[in-house]
Amino acid sequence: MRPASALIDLDGLRHNYRLARKTSGSRALAVIKADAYGHGAVRCAHALADEADGFAVACIEEALELRAAGIRAPILLLEGFFEPNELELIVHHQLWCVVHSIWQIEAIERSGLSQPLTIWLKLDSGMHRVGLHPADYQAARQRLMNCGKVAKIVLMSHFARADELDCPRSAEQLAVFRQACDSIEAEISLRNSPAILGWPQLFEKPNPNDWARPGLMLYGASPFEEPHPVAAQLRPVMTLSSRVIAVRELPAGEPVGYGAHFVSQRPTRVGVVAMGYADGYPRHAPTGTPVQVDGLSSQLIGRVSMDMLTVDLTDLPGTGLGSQVELWGQHVPINEIAQRAGTIPYQILCNLKRVSRQYSPH
Ligand SMILES: Cc1ncc(COP(=O)(O)O)c(C=O)c1O
Repeated sequence: MRPASALIDLDGLRHNYRLARKTSGSRALAVIKADAYGHGAVRCAHALADEADGFAVACIEEALELRAAGIRAPILLLEGFFEPNELELIVHHQLWCVVHSIWQIEAIERSGLSQPLTIWLKLDSGMHRVGLHPADYQAARQRLMNCGKVAKIVLMSHFARADELDCPRSAEQLAVFRQACDSIEAEISLRNSPAILGWPQLFEKPNPNDWARPGLMLYGASPFEEPHPVAAQLRPVMTLSSRVIAVRELPAGEPVGYGAHFVSQRPTRVGVVAMGYADGYPRHAPTGTPVQVDGLSSQLIGRVSMDMLTVDLTDLPGTGLGSQVELWGQHVPINEIAQRAGTIPYQILCNLKRVSRQYSPH
């Protein structure tokens, strides 16, 4: 069997959830969309079931998978419904639903719902992706309250630049949100991982009844490019590993891999590892990207190919055929892989495929 595998540390996940809750000072919906950022949504939801205040996913398909697996906690659909015919299912499965557009309000008004909905009404406070315009927000809320099909409305928005710790935009977005919600008494939900970790000064007196929405931090990756003291307390949840399946001894001056991107400068021992971009390892990770081989630090050499990549074993004499290689996880920070590959840990984690997942504790 191909030796590539991802070990998911469910205790680490629980630790990170508790850190998110404690740091935010409020309730927290664990964001487990995109199959829990590649970690397996059902397993992660079960692992968090006894402590998470609820879960958030991107769409009803993801929510129904959780319900079918026996998850009874609240589940929020972060983009609400895409078609009005989802509304009956939303009610039937007791899902919470974001409303971000006027067409959704009209659909709710026209619906013949058998039970009232819990709505999270999304304001566009400056990200300009989805959400109602500040000038329309109060009227939209009033319409929903008057239509007889809504039991409760949570006020929400989303930060665009909370991962940039010296950027004034989050404070500006918060000011827009506060103004748009002026004089409304309701639970609010604003904070994703970078806002929870990086902007405590904006939320000095958090209401314990409000809601944070941590995603990335649950999986132990930092949303920031620079070191951060609270992010440093996160535990990496996924450790991606494989094994050396072949070894090459090359003299100086020999190329390795597609495009001859690496040429040996000295006699070089090359380890070929069963891991490639078809597994989700980033193809743009260059020579020098860190790995660990049998617990020792080494680095990628040459281009990543579809099913294999090559690492330098020259200075690791005890390593060879069958050696265990950590691509990211407990010892190799995923943030560093992302930076080297010119991407973000979100994308790397979500791209993982074909690799078998194992969970600890079982
Ligand atoms: C609306 C919303 N809230 C929360 C999150 C979680 O964000 P993060 O993974 O940065 O914590 C996301 C993720 O993209 C999102 O779209």
